[in-house]
Amino acid sequence: MAFTEKVLVTGGAGFIGSNIADELIKQGAKVSIIDNFATGFRENLDEISGDFEFIEGDLNDDGVLKTALENVSIVFHQAALPSVPRSVANPEETHQACVNATFNLLCKAREQGVRRFIYAASSSAYGDQESLPKLESMSPDPLSPYAAAKLMGEYYCRVFYSVYGLETICLRYFNVFGPRQNPSSMYSGVISRFIDALMSGTKPQIYGDGEQSRDFTYIANVVNANLRAAQTSDGIGLVMNAANGERISLNQLLEVLKDITGKTDVTAEYHDARKGDVKHSQASNELAKRYLDYENLIGLEEGLRRTIDWWKNSRFANK
Ligand SMILES: NC(=O)c1ccc[n+]([C@@H]2O[C@H](COP(=O)([O-])OP(=O)(O)OC[C@H]3O[C@@H](n4cnc5c(N)ncnc54)[C@H](O)[C@@H]3O)[C@@H](O)[C@H]2O)c1
Repeated sequence: MAFTEKVLVTGGAGFIGSNIADELIKQGAKVSIIDNFATGFRENLDEISGDFEFIEGDLNDDGVLKTALENVSIVFHQAALPSVPRSVANPEETHQACVNATFNLLCKAREQGVRRFIYAASSSAYGDQESLPKLESMSPDPLSPYAAAKLMGEYYCRVFYSVYGLETICLRYFNVFGPRQNPSSMYSGVISRFIDALMSGTKPQIYGDGEQSRDFTYIANVVNANLRAAQTSDGIGLVMNAANGERISLNQLLEVLKDITGKTDVTAEYHDARKGDVKHSQASNELAKRYLDYENLIGLEEGLRRTIDWWKNSRFANK
């Protein structure tokens, strides 16, 4: 189904937001993007093909939001400071960017007649519960300021639907990876850092013993989940996992990447585990399958190959 309405992507200069914007433009949507470049990049905007409106500004700025939300029917809210260790180091800025910004955006979206609001929620909400896979019916157990802040956003989404009728859907992402993910910060996602290290000849860094496992999800699957959430007539007001549905340890992941890149001699450097990181993570996608007809389009290995191909032609290869 093509998009005929005007949509707003928050955090659209970031990794996930810019990929969502790209696909929306391909599907005919009139796209606006808002971003303050806290962790986003102009280069990500440059890679988006097609026309869009860009508004540079902060979601906590009411004047900027008013302009950004003009005539918008659907919001894809991706903006956040998406890092557990960053939130441990500076909980205030995470609260501002995740809780206050989300609340402000929900209030203004409601006032300006937005119909649907898709929220980028996080698997960090589950914490370290032993039982796998993680089901949406489990009680949340946030272990970091980031996890608590992202969970607060979910609660506000739920309430804005039940109290005000704003059609919210929260998609809990599990370790998303793919083109445009920035590898250059200590807060970057582990796949982007591993690829960057292998390709540029430095040692991959692992925090903990590497036996912690994650459900790594290729970006195309998350983009697909967002587009389906925007169009569904079922599952409004719910929280749903959007993931690959399998888990792999960081040690195993590194082996797969070494095979794909041919850098088989490389060894990792191990550091103390980081506060707030969970041990194991794996999603059940059953709810998203039921309500969104969600399917995992691209598996882990194919996603890794595509990400490496992107890296080879990116600014990171030429640094
Ligand atoms: N990447 C993952 O594995 C993952 C997993 C679970 C959830 N998420 C969620 O997905 C969303 C997107 O993550 P990402 O990996 O693309 O991160 P990203 O850092 O690449 O993108 C976030 C974007 O939000 C922008 N931003 C931050 N605060 C802002 C503010 N106050 N006003 C305007 N713009 C602001 C940043 O500049 C950046 O461009 C986040 O909400 C994150 O919590 C990501």
